[in-house]
Amino acid sequence: MSQKVAFVTGGTGGIGTAICQSLVTSGYRVVAGYNSGGNHDKALAWQANQLEKGFKIGVAYGDVTDFDSCKICIQNVKEQINSHISILVNNAGITRDTQFKKMEKNQWDDVMSANLDSLFNITRLVINDMIDNRFGRIVNISSVNAQKGQFGQTNYSAAKSGIHGFTKALAHEVASKGITVNTVSPGYVLTPMVAKIAEDIQQKIISSIPVGRMGSIEEIGSAVSYLTGENSGYITGSNLAINGGQHMY
Ligand code: CAA
Repeated sequence: MSQKVAFVTGGTGGIGTAICQSLVTSGYRVVAGYNSGGNHDKALAWQANQLEKGFKIGVAYGDVTDFDSCKICIQNVKEQINSHISILVNNAGITRDTQFKKMEKNQWDDVMSANLDSLFNITRLVINDMIDNRFGRIVNISSVNAQKGQFGQTNYSAAKSGIHGFTKALAHEVASKGITVNTVSPGYVLTPMVAKIAEDIQQKIISSIPVGRMGSIEEIGSAVSYLTGENSGYITGSNLAINGGQHMY
């Protein structure tokens, strides 16, 4: 059987890197989508670094907020792999944290488009190949803050909550075609995104996590791999919460 191809948006970022590595370890051919503000050298350096560590991963530039840019990106991926994408991980995301009373329109729009519109832009370009091939695994990365809400994140919590609706609706539509659609909701994980939070606030957050620490990127990567496996075909429309017990429901 030919090697299945996985495409991970935001693949060169904190959690994205661990997802890519885990999917390589699971035996997939992996391409990481990147934006990096158009800094292609940064992505190529990341790729070289992964190769040194034993992970052969392709890279493809795209702006997930822009449908036309996504078209070029997915075309690029298909040309690189000379095949279709069987596994899609919608992982790209940003934060623009601030209290709602001070939030600017662009802080709302940027978060909605990067975290939610992106799911339309990328998935729409991949889904028909999955349907034609009667196999697909889609994993959407949400957040604990979608379920519990977070002070300073009305934009992010709203966008990440939208992912749950998207996941469940699409899961209904494609279940009979051999395609599963699931959400993984990480809690606070040691990434550059979380490192931006002030140190005293980070300490308060850790004190609210029963496991007593932040998560590791590898703990998210292996969960995503699990959901992409052949034997995970009966899990669809679900949400896998990985938050150290910070929010149980
Ligand atoms: N609940 C209630 N009140 C809170 C609060 C909370 N959790 N956090 C702060 N406040 C209050 C403070 O007590 C203070 O009140 P007073 O003015 O009465 O003293 C006030 O809010 C602080 O207001 P400021 O305008 O000075 O705050 P700020 O604008 O400098 O900072 C913030 C606001 C940027 C949102 C900051 O609180 C923050 O960084 N919070 C953490 C946000 C967070 O967790 N982001 C997650 C990022 S990582 C991620 O998103 C990944 C993932 O999926 C988990």
